[in-house]
Amino acid sequence: MIDDDIDTKRRDVLTKLTFGAGCAGVCALAYPFLDSLNGTRASAFDESDVVDVDISMLRPGQQKVVQWRNWPVFVQRRTPEALASLQAPGADRDLRDPASRVLQQPRDATNWHRSVVPEIGVYIGICTHLGCVPNYNAPSATDLAGGYVCPCHGSHFDIAGRAFSDAPAPYNLPVPPVTMLSANTLRIGLSKGDPTFDINDIQQI
Ligand code: FES
Repeated sequence: MIDDDIDTKRRDVLTKLTFGAGCAGVCALAYPFLDSLNGTRASAFDESDVVDVDISMLRPGQQKVVQWRNWPVFVQRRTPEALASLQAPGADRDLRDPASRVLQQPRDATNWHRSVVPEIGVYIGICTHLGCVPNYNAPSATDLAGGYVCPCHGSHFDIAGRAFSDAPAPYNLPVPPVTMLSANTLRIGLSKGDPTFDINDIQQI
C-alpha cells in the first residue's frame, strides 16, 4: 500500500516535470502545436468533460497535442506505411499486449489500430511506467511507422501506443473515449461506440 502511494507520487511528479519537455519534443518532431483548449467545447454533453479537436490541418505523419482532464492527449494522423506496419506479419512479436487484452482502451478501440478509425490515433500521453510524457517519433526514412519513446527510462511504444516488452512500461498507452463527429473533427471524452466506458476503470494511466 505504501509502495503504491510512493509510486503514485513519483508518477505525479514525473508527469509534471516532463509534460513540458515531452511536448517540446513532440512539437519539434511533428506538429508544433499545443492545442490545449482551442477546441470548442461540447454543449449537448458534459461541457466540462469533452474537448472537440479540429484535425483538418493535421497531415499524415503529424501529431498535435491537446489537453483533456489535465492530461496531454496525442492526436496523430497515420501514414499508409504506418498502417501497413501495424498489420505486418510478426509486427506484434515484441509487444507486451499486442491484442489489447488489458483494459487500457474503450471497446471500439480494442482492435489492431487501437482507435476508432484506422487513420487517426488518440492516446493519453502518460507513460504507464512512472508517468513521464513520451516523445513522438514521427515517421521517417529509417522508421516508416514512427512511435513513442519515453525520455525517463526508455520505454517505447509503437504507433498504436502498444508497449514493447524490453522496457519497463507495463501497459499500453491509455486510449480516451473518442467519437468522430466528422472526417475532420473528433470529440474526446465521449465514446459512442462504448458509451459505458469510464476512463477511471482502466488498468493504469
Ligand atoms: S516513466 Fe519510466 S519509462 Fe516512462
